[in-house]
Amino acid sequence: MTHSYLAYLAALAATDIHPLGIAASRRLLAVLDLQPGQRVLEIGCGTGGTMIRAAQHTAVTVDGVDLMPDMLRAAHKRQRQAGQWATITLTQADSATLPFAGQTFDRVYTESVLGFQPEAAAQAMLRQIFRVLKPDGRYVANEAIWRAGVSPARVAAIYAACMADFGICQASPQPWGLDAWLCLMQQTGFQVAAADLLEEVVTGAAADAISDANRLNRWRRLAHPLLAWQSLVYRRRLARHRDDGQWLESRLFVLVKE
Ligand SMILES: C[S@@+](CC[C@H](N)C(=O)[O-])C[C@H]1O[C@@H](n2cnc3c(N)ncnc32)[C@H](O)[C@@H]1O
Repeated sequence: MTHSYLAYLAALAATDIHPLGIAASRRLLAVLDLQPGQRVLEIGCGTGGTMIRAAQHTAVTVDGVDLMPDMLRAAHKRQRQAGQWATITLTQADSATLPFAGQTFDRVYTESVLGFQPEAAAQAMLRQIFRVLKPDGRYVANEAIWRAGVSPARVAAIYAACMADFGICQASPQPWGLDAWLCLMQQTGFQVAAADLLEEVVTGAAADAISDANRLNRWRRLAHPLLAWQSLVYRRRLARHRDDGQWLESRLFVLVKE
């Protein structure tokens, strides 16, 4: 799988690449209920914006893993700029084979990573999260999934078009709505504490959707011809996909390992 749109976002060092942006990250951090001294894992940390906020918010140590070296490079730079050397550790890893011992973390979170995994990868990722969490540990996820009742044919069409245009889709190739995801989470052993619709629990999203870091990206694009060209291309492609959102919903899952 090529992640061409993600490579572009990594070059921009874009943050908050998930439903409802920074406002949703604030909500996710509140629900994570971090306590001083805890060890926290973010899977698919991207360029590291949420990890920095977590480490600045509470005296926790954070491990960030991501598949893409470009994302990790941008996250390293952000970590250095924020002076968070001691609190954040970055590792290239796949969610299907997390390089951590069992029962290592008090908290795990993801923002737009689990929801687009194919079936086998989603199963493996949930099993790994369950394994690395301590008893009573919590996994919180902000993920886009398919709305109930969307036909498999529509899912297949949107998925194929997104893969062609971006190398990635917002949601899974399999037509899973809320019930299918909850079933898999429970089969893995998790207790589902909540699965709220993000739009119902996040306030101030419209005003907050573009973070300061992403505003700076406009200057990066202007200064770099390739990024400027990619920006035009992706803006047109994004416009073609504007209606996809009506078939998707974003959920804030709160799972507990009892
Ligand atoms: C949509 S981006 C979200 C990035 C970040 N969480 C954010 O919200 O800004 C998804 C990220 O997950 C990473 N990713 C996707 N699949 C992964 C996997 N199986 N294991 C680890 N990282 C993964 C991608 O490389 C990318 O950085």
